[in-house]
Amino acid sequence: MTWMIKFVDENRQVFNTLMKEQLKIEKNGSRNSYLTLEALNEMPYASKVVKEALRKASVVQWLPRVALEDCVIEGFKIKKGWNINIDARSIHHDPTVHKDPDVFNPSRFPIKMLEKLQAESKPYSFLAFGMGGRTCLGKNMAKAMMLVFLHRFITNYKWKVIDSDSSIQKRALFTKLKSGYPVRLISKKDAKNKTM
Ligand code: HEM
Repeated sequence: MTWMIKFVDENRQVFNTLMKEQLKIEKNGSRNSYLTLEALNEMPYASKVVKEALRKASVVQWLPRVALEDCVIEGFKIKKGWNINIDARSIHHDPTVHKDPDVFNPSRFPIKMLEKLQAESKPYSFLAFGMGGRTCLGKNMAKAMMLVFLHRFITNYKWKVIDSDSSIQKRALFTKLKSGYPVRLISKKDAKNKTM
């Protein structure tokens, strides 16, 4: 979530598109009630923001597997019993897999058929929740939590980054910013009351 806010803050075009989508949902009544599943389904752009944040700052960096039989993958011989680490982070940053991988571009992920044809990422190249038989069991819950957080954060608050230092904390299990990316939150309601 920290990374998501950082990426959104640094990309004003993304922020504006996201805000437009989220204000529409707020107008439909989200302010005074819980967000419904229907409302979450009306957030295609926010879903892409979540996905792109997870691509750029992969929480789980690699997926461990054991080879059940001898096999050859792209010319590499793999023996039965070997431990294999699928390097999700490198795949997420490989320019042959994701065009301009350093750019925060939520639109690279297609949702509709036409978008799929024009996609800037190859299929099966998003591994934040793993893939196959051991895919993350909590992925829909995690995505829903991130969408709810994003909606409430964007529509209720303005924020100011206090320390935008981009250095990464060394020897951390997950890719973390050294500063923790502190922000000062200003409630939009309070800001409005003060100017009245
Ligand atoms: C952004 C949040 C999360 C991320 C990035 C994430 C990522 C992952 C990844 C990469 C795996 C391994 C998949 C594989 O080996 O192919 C995994 C497994 C798993 N995750 Fe998550 N996860 C998240 C949140 C959650 C939540 C909220 C829950 C539960 C409520 C959860 C429950 C599980 C379980 C039970 C497994 C093991 C599945 C198995 O081995 O069969 N995860 N997760």
